Amino acid sequence: MSKGIKEIPKLTVDALLTENRVFKPSAEFTKQANVKNDSLHKKAAKDRLAFWAECAEKLDWFKPWDKVLEWKVPFSKWFVGGKLNASFNCLDRHIKAGLGNKTAIFWEGEPAGEQKIISYDEAYKQVNKLANVFKSLGIKKGDRVAIYMPMIPEAAYAMLACSRIGAIHTVVFGGFSADALRERMNDAQAKLLITADGGYRRGKVLPLKDIADEAVAGAPTIKHVLVVKRAKNNITMHEKRDLWYHELMGKAKDFCEPEHMDAEDVLFILYTSGTTGKPKGIIHTTGGYLTGVTNTMQWVFDLKSKDVFWCTADVGWVTGHSYFVYGPMANAATQVMYEGTPDFPERNRFWKIIEKYKVTIFYTAPTAIRAFMKWGTKWVEDCKLTSLRLLGSVGEPINPEAWIWYHLNIGKQKCPIVDTWWQTETGCILIAPLPGITATKPGSATKPLPGIETVVLDDDGKEIKEGGGILAIKSPWPSMLRGIWRDPERYKKTYWSRWPNTYFPGDGAKKDEDGYLWLLGRVDDIMLVAGHNISTMEVESALVDNPIVAESAVVGITDELKGQAIAAFVILKEGNNPSEESQNILKAHVVKKIGAIARPEKIIFTPELPKTRSGKIMRRLLRDIAEGRALGDVTTLADASVVESLKSKYEDKEG
Ligand code: WT7
Repeated sequence: MSKGIKEIPKLTVDALLTENRVFKPSAEFTKQANVKNDSLHKKAAKDRLAFWAECAEKLDWFKPWDKVLEWKVPFSKWFVGGKLNASFNCLDRHIKAGLGNKTAIFWEGEPAGEQKIISYDEAYKQVNKLANVFKSLGIKKGDRVAIYMPMIPEAAYAMLACSRIGAIHTVVFGGFSADALRERMNDAQAKLLITADGGYRRGKVLPLKDIADEAVAGAPTIKHVLVVKRAKNNITMHEKRDLWYHELMGKAKDFCEPEHMDAEDVLFILYTSGTTGKPKGIIHTTGGYLTGVTNTMQWVFDLKSKDVFWCTADVGWVTGHSYFVYGPMANAATQVMYEGTPDFPERNRFWKIIEKYKVTIFYTAPTAIRAFMKWGTKWVEDCKLTSLRLLGSVGEPINPEAWIWYHLNIGKQKCPIVDTWWQTETGCILIAPLPGITATKPGSATKPLPGIETVVLDDDGKEIKEGGGILAIKSPWPSMLRGIWRDPERYKKTYWSRWPNTYFPGDGAKKDEDGYLWLLGRVDDIMLVAGHNISTMEVESALVDNPIVAESAVVGITDELKGQAIAAFVILKEGNNPSEESQNILKAHVVKKIGAIARPEKIIFTPELPKTRSGKIMRRLLRDIAEGRALGDVTTLADASVVESLKSKYEDKEG
């Protein structure tokens, strides 16, 4: 391929490019759909800014905006001068509309029999109290609050309570390590951390507070740690610094005036992996972000007031922000929130939950679908899934076999599937079918949503009308990231330097003869492991941080379940043994530095790394070795002389 671009992950492409099945929406679905025809597309094509203004009017504004867009490439401002509050839009206005009794959350704990049914009234009360607690701890508009929580309702309350008083939340996924949490709190200069004693995962208690203690010890900006009692595991409370959530909530007042926020005030920062070892704090603001998530909820998920929506993502990822907290709640949706894993106590837990709460819309990730496929249909067969009417997929390309399995076994051939392409950076879904009008092709996210202008480009920025290239976005959209926290230069360089005035998402894409887009995986050094972004550099840095490692190179390899798994080539320092024990030490070290999601599947010791004449690591050769193509099954040690002789074969291609 052309300069600077890695080849596109091979297996996905092979499967996708031979796929030619088409599934048309049923007349029955179309009849009831929120989007029945192409009028939105027409409006957006005629006047994009007027179209987005109409979308923003679905929110409640304290003061209308003066100007829809101010675009000083690559910095955008949307709904300039407008004032609103996110928690007001997710709660107060529904209560004013008489929906206080409506169920907001069916919460299901992982241990058998634990559940809570939370109405909008109840959520409103909790969020108001918590907002007052934050104020009593000295949190003010613009301050950063870190959230490190299990999947319990308090996680959503914490996010909404921040938005109520104008504090900026930064949620850190509960599976991240102390090091990862510390790094994020320090970058954000967070004043307060909210966590829980522990959370349940696959029958065990994850000791979140212990991990948080380790992190906070190196995070000098944190003044207080607010602790929710969830798992009742033993923890240490540090005097003055640590406070029990229930104690302060017990004393807090029921109402807190929502802050009138500027449309462009920061709503949250969410860290995502970049191509360097340092995560990027993606900034989202209030008006544009809420406009994006509120509208896509109606268009893509076809949400109606009677629906029971279940997005299985953790609040620690952008999917949990946009399609568990803000998108659904801004639409007064009834949702399921589940604390644990899909295989606890048995592999039918998700299907049992769908049956129990009569879920109508189910949104999950291809990696989960592939696990369900592997476990077999017997887990699905004795559960009643007749309530389902729409299915969604997100996080990575969905392979057609998984799509068809989902369609047959979960959707029973009657539910449209929306394969939704987006990113932490895009804030909301940008490419997806509109289920009432778009014919779907398994493996294709189909076409951009109204108001979104995507193109497929070659490396020089020339448009590819049909064929493979790189995805690009030509014009700004309301829920786009506004920058990288404390690093505007990196923002420009990462997203806006490849082509002039055009956003570079980092994904390979193919456009077919019908104009459908097939997203083909990352073209940069980011791996998609079980749908989560992990940069090769981040794992390499974690490895060389261990005293036995001299150098390392990390590649993503094809994995049947996770999409990609991590293979690490490691040069040990003199005097250390390339043993199984060393492999285990290094795997554990990466888990400690980043979290279990980054655990390398394979560690391959090598006396040297194959490099091009210009000194670049030959990652393709490494991938071929790790996947067993180049050297047969290498488990521990790559032979230097063989690797050296293979090099010449690759050198010509790699350039
Ligand atoms: C990257 C963004 C979007 C929320 C979860 C991930 C990949 C995401 C799809 C899809 C093909 C997809 C892309 C993207 N991706 N959805 N439907 N088809 N690829 O958010 O962690 O910011 O990751 O996930 O490579 O760039 P994220």
